[in-house]
Amino acid sequence: MSLFERISETASYINEKLNAMPVIGIISGSGLGGLTDILEIETEIDYELIPHFPVSTVAGHSGKLVFGKLGNKQVLVMSGRFHYYEGYDMDTVTFPVRVMKALGVETLIVSNAAGGMNENFKVGDMMLITDHINLFPEHPLRGHNDERLGVRFPDMSETYDPKLIALAKKIAAEKQIPLKCGVYIGLQGPTFETPAEYRWLHVIGGDAVGMSTVPEVIVAIHSGMRVFAISIITDIGISAVPLKITHEEVLEAANAAAPKLAALVTELIKEM
Ligand code: HPA
Repeated sequence: MSLFERISETASYINEKLNAMPVIGIISGSGLGGLTDILEIETEIDYELIPHFPVSTVAGHSGKLVFGKLGNKQVLVMSGRFHYYEGYDMDTVTFPVRVMKALGVETLIVSNAAGGMNENFKVGDMMLITDHINLFPEHPLRGHNDERLGVRFPDMSETYDPKLIALAKKIAAEKQIPLKCGVYIGLQGPTFETPAEYRWLHVIGGDAVGMSTVPEVIVAIHSGMRVFAISIITDIGISAVPLKITHEEVLEAANAAAPKLAALVTELIKEM
């Protein structure tokens, strides 16, 4: 079965369970599933039940699609994402984005937990992603290009929608929500970086680093969606003495920052 056929099957399964078309898709990352708390939930579907959907394997990532209203718009939240380091191939990692597009989603909002390399960042900061560097070992668009899904050579000059970035900055200023901006580097993990790697990632232009987001964003651009993304800085990679990082600390820091992320995203959705 082709990718296109799988997307269609999955989308029609989900479509039957929804009473309205979602216009905004949200992928909530590690510890940031809290976005579903502020959603006026209408329908929830466990990943297990969705045809062609993989089941996520990492502790702290629950796996379900949550559909409902946020800021007066119909949104579809992917609570728990699929990471490349779990062993999924790129088609699988990005499959939910394809399905969102098939369901009518026009704007994708992505959140993640990331390590900070910018010396002005501290744990708990929220960083608006203005651009990215793709260091994944495999490209999600490698291989046959189905023109029904997008063009062979997508433009990436304005990957993160400038209007949404401007709107988020305005909202953050009005609501006095501290907001940093920067470049996200996506790589495969699952190790956190060595001190030398964090330094190198900063030198090549990164402000934050993580193990997700870039594949989903590339596929969203390929399918013609508008993209907005935010990192929660859960640890700092650059320091005079090497700092140890654990997954638990990452989840804890992400959880602590989840309310301000939710506040910003809710207002953004309201105003866009
Ligand atoms: N590196 C990579 N991924 C991460 C980090 C990090 O420091 N923090 C949270 N996710």
